[in-house]
Amino acid sequence: MSSIHTPKLLIIGAGDFQLPLVQEAAKSCQVLLAAPVISGAFDPYISDRLICDVRDEETILAFAKKHQIDGVITDQTDIAVRSVAYVAENMGLPGIGSETGLLFTDKSRMRARMAELGIHQLENRTVASVEEAVEFFRHYGGRVIIKPLDTQGSRGVQVCASEQELRDKYPEAARWSGNGNVIVEQFATGREFVVESLVLDYDYHNLCIGDTLYFDIPDAFAAKSRIFPTTADEALRSKVLALDEQIIRGFGLRQGITHSEYIMEGDEVYLIETAARGGGVFISSDLIHLSSGLHTEQFLINIALGRQKEVPEILPQQQYCGYMAFYLPVGRVTRVEGVEEVCALPFVHRNQLGKLHAGMENREGATDKTSRLAVIVSGPTRQALMDNMAAVRRTLQIEIQAPDGSIHTPIWE
Ligand SMILES: Nc1ncnc2c1ncn2[C@@H]1O[C@H](COP(=O)(O)OP(=O)(O)O)[C@@H](O)[C@H]1O
Ligand SMILES: [Mg+2]
Repeated sequence: MSSIHTPKLLIIGAGDFQLPLVQEAAKSCQVLLAAPVISGAFDPYISDRLICDVRDEETILAFAKKHQIDGVITDQTDIAVRSVAYVAENMGLPGIGSETGLLFTDKSRMRARMAELGIHQLENRTVASVEEAVEFFRHYGGRVIIKPLDTQGSRGVQVCASEQELRDKYPEAARWSGNGNVIVEQFATGREFVVESLVLDYDYHNLCIGDTLYFDIPDAFAAKSRIFPTTADEALRSKVLALDEQIIRGFGLRQGITHSEYIMEGDEVYLIETAARGGGVFISSDLIHLSSGLHTEQFLINIALGRQKEVPEILPQQQYCGYMAFYLPVGRVTRVEGVEEVCALPFVHRNQLGKLHAGMENREGATDKTSRLAVIVSGPTRQALMDNMAAVRRTLQIEIQAPDGSIHTPIWE
């Protein structure tokens, strides 16, 4: 007897960047969603929900068992990756395994594995106390960066040029770290790359490589823009991609989309971090697709359900594309114009502008990436892309009134 079974897919995480995955999954699956907050935007697509911390593995596993799910997945966020791996492993569903989930979400483990693999690294040490951090600083003798082991959005990531600065800033890094440990690392000063790749049955395929451009805000470490493809010449591009392949294969990832960040110091390229999920800010859902033609969500859903038998078609870079993002300064939004015009532009794709409305209050300063709003833009050449981004910025007319009454515009640089 055969019956048509609609697969039950559990998705963990319900921010703006998980919506594309949920929407696509709803076309062929019964979608269950687990997250601390689930906005009304998800209502049309889900059959049941679990309100919980995305890191709460046991609660999510119990929910998954109760519903007898057929697959579990996340995308564009790191903090759900361990729970996805844990649930899949415990239910015998397709996944990457808990150990690999830990490896891809713990920057200290990444560095330990890199050492085992003999891959060059920026000088670094994982420390459990400020005194140990100071000891490394004295030994290294230059500017260092400190960061928590396992958060995202640059929370707690700070540069320290002196011992006193390190002592002052250390607690904030430790506060964000799951086990309180902190990575102290040589501060690199070169350009940064972002690389998205695809893995199926441990086999690696690059999807695209781009450049990361930063806001000029101290210790914010937030990208104002990520642009595909990179402007790097062929030799440098190959060097980055060879390193990416060496790392992803060396880390033993079974399947998924990977998002890795690299930085240069002198002529050398170093890993900042790698993740076993697609890049956030719609890189996975939109920029990978605009770059390579891959339908990322379909691939992710298929691997979660164990039905991706062959490597999907990956096209060479199809066009220039990227995200541009801005922060709202602290205050109340008093004017929002041009959103409809921007959304109607043919080179503007998915974006978060729908969130903007007069009267909204922004209490967060420009200190963590979660208060950024992004727009996906494309163009046939790099210059056309840059011109299109400038047009978006010109067309958007946003004003914010600060608590002291002064009027400000969004922070784009
Ligand atoms: N060793 C380093 N030297 C210079 N900049 C760094 C270094 N490590 C991290 N950064 C900067 O800090 C940002 C955030 O660090 P990252 O390790 O990616 O943390 P998160 O997981 O919060 O994104 C990076 O994108 C990069 O710009
Ligand atoms: Mg990062």
